Amino acid sequence: MRSAVGFLCLLSALVSTGYSLSCIECSEYNSTSCSGDSDLCPAEFCASTFIRESSPGGSIMQIKRFCAAKSQCGETGSATYGYVRRHMITSCCDSDNCAPEVPEFPEATEEPNGNSCPNCFPPTSEECDPVERAQCAASEDKCFVHFFKQDDLEFRIGGCASDSMCQPDRFPEYSYEEVSTTCARVSQ
Ligand SMILES: *[C@@H]1O[C@H](CO)[C@@H](O)[C@H](O)[C@H]1NC(C)=O
Repeated sequence: MRSAVGFLCLLSALVSTGYSLSCIECSEYNSTSCSGDSDLCPAEFCASTFIRESSPGGSIMQIKRFCAAKSQCGETGSATYGYVRRHMITSCCDSDNCAPEVPEFPEATEEPNGNSCPNCFPPTSEECDPVERAQCAASEDKCFVHFFKQDDLEFRIGGCASDSMCQPDRFPEYSYEEVSTTCARVSQ
């Protein structure tokens, strides 16, 4: 009885907020699709965040599917570190378990914007070298450091980022036991 009441409360909460969408939750590296469980969302949209990592050796895509608020839809971002440019685009759709199409990505190389940041790439256990600079492009006006720890080994990557890249889930392939992403405004 108690659980039936609980269920009815949940149902009426969902109805009263108008959200009763189901979305797939999953992530995959080196792929533009993934499959996983369907979850009932307290949200209006199903989203896919696509992250493309471009380097002279080619590019690798990764995807994360989740329940999203409207503010997350259409979010873009980029980061530059070492010989890598990273682009992120989140696209949305609004029917049960829908999968947004893979969006068009900008060119891997874009005009430098004049900002630069201490470069940390390949991953290093040292502090980022302030002398060796990553040259920022597009709307990158932050210097990021993404820190990750595996067993007793600590690593960081760092360089230029747009504000939207300043969170650990923008670098999911560098996520181990402990992870953090910090950003500071570029100094001119
Ligand atoms: C990505 O996937 C392709 C095709 O399945 C494979 O050939 C390639 O080695 C993969 N790259 C990485 C870095 O996993």
